[in-house]
Amino acid sequence: MKVMASNNIISLKHVYFTYPNSKRPALSDINLDIKRGSWTSIIGHNGSGKSTITRLINGLLLPDENQNTYIVVDNQELSDDTVWNIRDKVGIVFQNPDNQFVGATVADDVAFGLENRGIEHNEMKTRVVKALEEVGMTEYATAEPSNLSGGQKQRVAIAGILAIRPKVIILDEATAMLDPNGRESILRLVKHMKERDNLTVISITHDVNESIELADNVVVVNDGKILATGDPIKVFENQAMINEIGLEEPFIFELKNKLIKAGINIPLEIDTEEKLVNYLCQLNSTM
Ligand SMILES: Nc1ncnc2c1ncn2[C@@H]1O[C@H](COP(=O)(O)OP(=O)(O)OP(=O)(O)O)[C@@H](O)[C@H]1O
Ligand SMILES: [Mg+2]
Repeated sequence: MKVMASNNIISLKHVYFTYPNSKRPALSDINLDIKRGSWTSIIGHNGSGKSTITRLINGLLLPDENQNTYIVVDNQELSDDTVWNIRDKVGIVFQNPDNQFVGATVADDVAFGLENRGIEHNEMKTRVVKALEEVGMTEYATAEPSNLSGGQKQRVAIAGILAIRPKVIILDEATAMLDPNGRESILRLVKHMKERDNLTVISITHDVNESIELADNVVVVNDGKILATGDPIKVFENQAMINEIGLEEPFIFELKNKLIKAGINIPLEIDTEEKLVNYLCQLNSTM
């Protein structure tokens, strides 16, 4: 396949994947385009195939052989020759902060990926200092990772990725084990880095409110297939589908429906919490 420069930083075409010893494919005919600089939420119930998709994107897993299949990341087709290069471009933060540490200190840990890539010592030191600064963990550089809080551990994991200067950050339920403040602060950090460096973010999440607030695009995965994709508000408006696959209804929709039931008519175009608050304030001032 000839790869042409494209607005899409990631493209998957006709991707199938079957785990060894498994009779059923975990993924069937996945077609997915992700725009450069966008924030994509991947949602779907447990076991639907979300993590498998991300492992295919950075070559941790290879798709089933199929003539029409290809995976392109940043204008390079994923192959044995490009996989290491592509892994430098795509960093994944996993759910459990305790499973992602290898260094004896926070700084060692952030340096680990750079060491592996043979980055020269002085350059490595500079990058580690900078990455820790970016995630607000400078004062913990010599701390033992095991003594950090869950949120701090995820910051260090993000620093380890930033140090490699990726183009895509994948959060695989990276905030699921944090309390609401920890979650909020990690998402704010990722949003800031995204805007500063034009990073592309892919976030696997069960938090539909995160999808509504931060994502440009939502991908609904169900039983190894993509069931829907598009603008978050439009996707979540399909309540029948959301209910059918057992996903939670976003807070804004729940609230709107309750207000409508209480006789307060809310126009269709009110689709964010901010707009709803403004609308209700206006309504109040005219009453
Ligand atoms: N290493 C493996 N070997 C065999 N089957 C696997 C393996 N990892 C995942 N699977 C199966 O592949 C399917 C998709 O799993 P995957 O981890 O991608 O789902 P997920 O959507 O990320 O789920 P969760 O929300 O629980 O993280 C599931 O049926 C799962 O049991
Ligand atoms: Mg998963």
